Amino acid sequence: MQPEPLDTVINMQDNDTSLGSADVRDYFKRTAVTFDDLYGDDQQAKTLFNQIFRKAIYWRFDLTFEALKDGDGKRYLDIGCGSGRHATLLAERGAHVTGVDFSDEMLELARQYAKSRDVSARTDFQLGQFFEWAKRKRKKYDAAYALGVLDYIDDSVGFLSEMSRLSDQVIVAWPTPSFPRSQLRTWRYKRQGCPVYFYNKKNIEDIHASAGLKIERIHPLGDASIWTSATKAA
Ligand SMILES: C[S@@+](CC[C@H](N)C(=O)[O-])C[C@H]1O[C@@H](n2cnc3c(N)ncnc32)[C@H](O)[C@@H]1O
Repeated sequence: MQPEPLDTVINMQDNDTSLGSADVRDYFKRTAVTFDDLYGDDQQAKTLFNQIFRKAIYWRFDLTFEALKDGDGKRYLDIGCGSGRHATLLAERGAHVTGVDFSDEMLELARQYAKSRDVSARTDFQLGQFFEWAKRKRKKYDAAYALGVLDYIDDSVGFLSEMSRLSDQVIVAWPTPSFPRSQLRTWRYKRQGCPVYFYNKKNIEDIHASAGLKIERIHPLGDASIWTSATKAA
């Protein structure tokens, strides 16, 4: 199989319109515990495997922490917070973090983890589909971030526009197309009914521009993803 030219590989999901966010939600309801194992403290061998082969997950985590290093007293929004690992660590630094996710199984893990680290009072995990949830929010956050989420979003411009309405700083990790990794991932997820999207650098720049955002920092994470931090365009 030949790799596709990067410019044409943005949306690798099947054109089947039944593949919507309900499929993504069902996928993450089924796989919450397996996903959280990626961060597992007690599975050294597996964690080592993930640190080597899925290092972008740890990398995006580190870049986000560095960008949000003045955590004390800040209010952050973690979109698609999953099992709450980032939210809890930022709360340990003194930030107040609101996490939103549409998988209640993920949120249960997030609440347990925050409790185990004694930061329940500085975290608030809310159930919601981001677009629906955001409609009811006016509150401004010091930063909004979405890590490992744009992979599953069919309206990336709308998503970033909503992020930017809620915060002046918008941090996102974008999965990039790379052969054969993205083809294999698309195939693996499609078998489970979950669509996956990929973005090259130009796509990412265009999406920011369309959402009225200016990229302040862009960082490739190997060949698997790109991390960006953006603010409102003047
Ligand atoms: C791969 S996980 C990443 C979790 C976390 N951000 C991390 O990096 O550990 C993606 C999460 O996004 C959530 N998600 C995806 N699309 C969403 C949407 N439209 N609204 C709310 N949550 C969503 C899923 O339920 C899942 O928990």
